Amino acid sequence: MSDDKAENGAEPRRNFIASVGALCVAAAASIVPLAAGAAALFDPLRRGRRDLSMILVTKLSSVPEDGAPKKFTIETDRVDAWTTYENTPVGAVYLRRTPTGVAALNVVCPHAGCFVGLMPDKSRFGCPCHKSSFDLDGVVNDANSPSPRDMDALEVEVRNGDEVWVRFQNFLPGREEKTAI
Ligand code: FES
Repeated sequence: MSDDKAENGAEPRRNFIASVGALCVAAAASIVPLAAGAAALFDPLRRGRRDLSMILVTKLSSVPEDGAPKKFTIETDRVDAWTTYENTPVGAVYLRRTPTGVAALNVVCPHAGCFVGLMPDKSRFGCPCHKSSFDLDGVVNDANSPSPRDMDALEVEVRNGDEVWVRFQNFLPGREEKTAI
């Protein structure tokens, strides 16, 4: 084979290798911004859970002084995928004055998730779904109650003399232990 023919055969090979190399460099260069874009795109899904900081629920003066529980809606900003919903109801609590301050109970029944109601005489809580019964402090008070645990107590603070703040949280129903959702 002459030098010319050998040179002619090597030229396409060099071009091919150069093209493949250029493609690899281009692919590598595009992966970084693509990965960053995907992270930014899906970041809201990772942030889909509500912030569990304390929420201002009401004024202390709105909680009955006689110790009777009163129901309050919990409203806060909720981030759902790519949208922020401001002042959205996310649940409800019973607030009750105690000798040491204020107690908060989630209204959701630990049995299967129905909403527990306050009896008309305000002597206890009762669940309309399967008849679980609780004392005003949320303790199961009937051996036949199907609820596997007491009502879920929540952290509560009175701030600045007249602000009731609650760390609102839901828990899995049907379990003896409190497992945060
Ligand atoms: S959901 Fe309350 S007793 Fe079943």
